[in-house]
Amino acid sequence: MPSDTTTNDSPQTDQAEENTMTATKIAAGNAAPKTANALYELRGASRHFGSGATAVKALDEISATIGSGEFVVIEGASGSGKTTLLQLLGALDAPTAGQVLFDGRDMTTLSAGEQSALRRDAVGFVFQQFNLIPTLTARQNVEIAMVPRGTGTRERAARASELLERVGLGGRLEHLPLQLSGGEQQRVAIARALANDARVLLADEPTGNLDSATGAEVLNLLHRLWSEHGLTIILITHDPGISQRASRLLRMCDGRIVEDRRIK
Ligand SMILES: Nc1ncnc2c1ncn2[C@@H]1O[C@H](COP(=O)(O)OP(=O)(O)O)[C@@H](O)[C@H]1O
Ligand SMILES: [Mg+2]
Repeated sequence: MPSDTTTNDSPQTDQAEENTMTATKIAAGNAAPKTANALYELRGASRHFGSGATAVKALDEISATIGSGEFVVIEGASGSGKTTLLQLLGALDAPTAGQVLFDGRDMTTLSAGEQSALRRDAVGFVFQQFNLIPTLTARQNVEIAMVPRGTGTRERAARASELLERVGLGGRLEHLPLQLSGGEQQRVAIARALANDARVLLADEPTGNLDSATGAEVLNLLHRLWSEHGLTIILITHDPGISQRASRLLRMCDGRIVEDRRIK
């Protein structure tokens, strides 16, 4: 700044500093997670399918911030956009307008290689169908998730065993998927999702194929992984029991977030 303007500018600078400090104070007084530790930030993110009169607004200008360590439950009627939202968060799909930031970076600006590295290392997926490979044992199903990352054979085996123990399947390491119950298969899928130290677990109706008692056990497991291991979980479910124990509930309707409630 030229020195001859310093005197004139000084009051404005003071005012600007004061405004900044006020903004900081307001931000500090609000308990909501800040952009500073945001894992995800959605900025007017839309996902439209098709065009013209037949266009479907699966997501319609969604804006939200999800902090590291949150346990977010997403609820909403069938067709409300839940799966589409989760796919954007997992870099399995991209918004047709707006932005989705992961760790402050716009995911659509990442190269294909960076996107697949993100899917491999940062995000773990759990689906309604367990998607296990039927010819591989529980341990092998977890191990193969580590192959693309280049983890060595011994480390893969040790880590797979450890993860399966963590999800309560220490006694089922060498079982094939068909020799496991639905709940056990979903536990294997959860262990697999954690194999590469994912920072966030994205689960799309993981109990949809399970009876209610088994589903409750799987949700208890996810809750334990969240509370004991500091994992970020974003979970689509209709189970009212788990939404009460999550940290936040997002309700979707017609591609929009119509309710955003912090539980604790
Ligand atoms: N690949 C697609 N092509 C066209 N329409 C789609 C596609 N995927 C989803 N949709 C539509 O987007 C809307 C939201 O779908 P989805 O996110 O799967 O909802 P939910 O998971 O809440 O049931 C629905 O109307 C659905 O039919
Ligand atoms: Mg869905």
